[in-house]
Amino acid sequence: MRQVVIVGRGGPQKLQVREAPDPEPKSGEVRIRVRASGINFADILARKGLYPDAPRLPAVVGYEVSGVVDEVGSGADQALIGTEVVALTRFGGYSDVVSVPAKQVFEKPAALSHEQAAALPVAYVTAWQLLVVMGSLKAGETVLIHNAGGGVGLAAIDIARHVGATIFGTASTAKHAFLLERGVHEAIDYRTTDWAVEVSRLTARKGISLIIDPLGGRNVKKSYRALRSAGRLGMFGISAATASRLPGPLRLGQVALGMPFFHPVALMNTNRSVFGVNLGHMWRETDMIAEWMQDLLGGVAEGWVRPHVDRSFPLDAAGEAHAYIEERRNTGKVVLTT
Ligand SMILES: NC(=O)c1ccc[n+]([C@@H]2O[C@H](COP(=O)([O-])OP(=O)(O)OC[C@H]3O[C@@H](n4cnc5c(N)ncnc54)[C@H](OP(=O)(O)O)[C@@H]3O)[C@@H](O)[C@H]2O)c1
Repeated sequence: MRQVVIVGRGGPQKLQVREAPDPEPKSGEVRIRVRASGINFADILARKGLYPDAPRLPAVVGYEVSGVVDEVGSGADQALIGTEVVALTRFGGYSDVVSVPAKQVFEKPAALSHEQAAALPVAYVTAWQLLVVMGSLKAGETVLIHNAGGGVGLAAIDIARHVGATIFGTASTAKHAFLLERGVHEAIDYRTTDWAVEVSRLTARKGISLIIDPLGGRNVKKSYRALRSAGRLGMFGISAATASRLPGPLRLGQVALGMPFFHPVALMNTNRSVFGVNLGHMWRETDMIAEWMQDLLGGVAEGWVRPHVDRSFPLDAAGEAHAYIEERRNTGKVVLTT
């Protein structure tokens, strides 16, 4: 098989294609001939040495694939052979073959291409957990989606639109027209304007019911302050770390130091709630994830889950694909194709 290996910490040139023997599926696993692999921001952080959950380098990252099952291990359903599937992978997705526990594998909706299917699992499951499961978003409430033009951002827009919430999104200006088309009611450029001032104006100083924040660092404090009474803040990333010029571990420290502590008394007195989401720490809850995936695959059938692939790159151009995201040029997902 061919795999994209992160050979060491550094720039996109640290991604190299290497050959390795095809994996044999272990008991309970299925082997997938991969057609497309989703790229996530975590993969970029891993390459830069900024992702605490990353495997030791050299490593093959990749959390999601779409492809065709060509072999199953003992105990797995033989009937899966030949089926088109979409799967969550605990690394190894940047390959043209991968073996995955059968519990993490789902039938690919026929309406989606392999590229679109590979763009679904991480972004939509994360957004579902943030908005529906933990954020309890309801019709008529307001939601602020930071980085609304990213993979998770667009997934969150689909879900918030389905719920019937009023959607505010922050993103670079070039993405605004597309975001408004996808269902955002107000788009804000957080790089040229103070989004908190804008949100306060747009809500007549009431604040927001639910905010999802992947930036981390000082932005978290700002997001917390922008909540209205009974508001919820879901934190799920540290993108801010990539913007710092400090060396790896110090950058993480800088972002961590910028984050607020939430005192229970302050939470009670402000009637606010804060929570965190890390899909990478949910591997012991595959039944729960499978339930959410079924809801989302139902959403594909009903037409409100619309995975958007901005660009696909072949496996051997994985470095270009990373650079494209780091330059903030993507709107929605970027995928690798085999
Ligand atoms: N906790 C979890 O389980 C989980 C799961 C998935 C993703 N995440 C987190 O969610 C965030 C979005 O992930 P994603 O995979 O959806 O990202 P993505 O599609 O790759 O989006 C990247 C976008 O984020 C924005 N951005 C913000 N800060 C940036 C920076 N310092 N460098 C480059 N781009 C930056 C850029 O758009 P604009 O400038 O236009 O906003 C860029 O286009 C990341 O922080 C990721 O780690 C967390």
